[in-house]
Amino acid sequence: MNISIIGTGYVGLPTGVGFASLGHNICCIDKDLDKIDRLKKGEIDIYEENLEELFCKVTEEQKLTFSYSIKEGIQNADLIILAVGTPTEQNSDKADLTYIKEASKEIAEHLSDRYTILAIKSTVPVCTGDMIEEIIDRKNCDVISMPEFLREGFALYDFFNPDRIVVGTNSEKAKKVIQQLYDGKNILFTDRRSAELIKYASNAFLATKIHYINEIADLCEKTGANIENVAKGLGLDSRIGNKFLNAGIGFGGSCFPKDTRALLQTANEFNVEFSLVKNVIEGNNKRKKEIAQKIIQKAKSIKKQENKSIRIAIFGLAFKNNTDDCRESPAIEIVQNLLNEDFIIEVYDPKAIDNAQKILKNKVTYYKYPEMCAFRADMLILLTEWEEFKILDYEKIYEIMNNKILLDYRNLLDEEKMKKIGFEYERIGKKYD
Ligand code: UDX
Repeated sequence: MNISIIGTGYVGLPTGVGFASLGHNICCIDKDLDKIDRLKKGEIDIYEENLEELFCKVTEEQKLTFSYSIKEGIQNADLIILAVGTPTEQNSDKADLTYIKEASKEIAEHLSDRYTILAIKSTVPVCTGDMIEEIIDRKNCDVISMPEFLREGFALYDFFNPDRIVVGTNSEKAKKVIQQLYDGKNILFTDRRSAELIKYASNAFLATKIHYINEIADLCEKTGANIENVAKGLGLDSRIGNKFLNAGIGFGGSCFPKDTRALLQTANEFNVEFSLVKNVIEGNNKRKKEIAQKIIQKAKSIKKQENKSIRIAIFGLAFKNNTDDCRESPAIEIVQNLLNEDFIIEVYDPKAIDNAQKILKNKVTYYKYPEMCAFRADMLILLTEWEEFKILDYEKIYEIMNNKILLDYRNLLDEEKMKKIGFEYERIGKKYD
């Protein structure tokens, strides 16, 4: 099948590479000329596990080509996938549909006379498909909703192992084509508006689950219960499930924050009371400030004794593990809150330093190696759940630190082991006197 994918970001590129590896002819289109030129030279500007290898394979097989022209790129398409960004609008919490509208207008101008399906993979508010259909206004083009459920850092895994494929359309012709495309996968066919809402409802539910466990963690810290034990007991109930119950510093990224805000906006527009999601957004925003305050209080307790600038080493800047993405990263927000104090802040992240530097600039010191970052630090704080952080040589890190405070705010480490090494150790969701 000839598939054109508009948008070569964290969704479009892994999707294109994935389909190409299944034997389809893929044309990835992006209006960012530099990006397309780099992709044509084999340079990928996002980190995704296994993406680079698969990208090389499918480009060598000439199953994956690139274009910065929608007119050129959709000429032979049986299926056009719209995977452009829908960020939050500058002066509101609404999803910005500028890129969606621009691309739709260009597609309408250059659609061929052959039957084509336009699948909206971008996360768009309910009824956006109706608007796109009006722009396209062609009998030989079915506009369907086909939302993505790819986790950053695991995009290819999720592409090949989806829990479900959701497709919103009433066109029997389109259903047949998509059935063929996802041969053998579990496809939920539904109406277009329901498919659009399924995406938001899923992300908002997952964000709510995370905020819920974070609030339970706060109660554990006051009552002396232990969040890991509570989460374990919760997760054993098959109706709850044990995923997305890791208490931490709050959710971030380019999806949950913007999607919860956009969903709340949609509810407001339709005069539907959405108190739960509203509280999740507000509570999650507050959490990062609260975590920063905990760190500041801890640092001030050292300062009193030693009256010098406290050196704080931060491990982890990406919004989650396995990605270089720092968009709405809670780790970055916490560091920004710490910058208001006279700390010396030193940072390390396995993949996200380049993106973090675009935000934090020269206000912190960046290190390529964790041990260099921890050298002479008074406090070491883990803010991103990188697997790498679980297997570092903490005895060596203990030796090279000044004060020996270790705040494990992603609950990655074994508390007994860290205390045995000698750290003054704390984690999320446990009471410390
Ligand atoms: C999310 C959805 O999971 C995915 O299905 C959708 O297609 C896009 O949005 P993503 O934003 O890549 O994916 O990250 P995710 O793995 O969901 O994590 C989001 C945030 O929640 C991260 O900041 C992560 O650190 C945090 N998180 C996640 C927790 O704090 N606790 C958890 O248990 C899980």
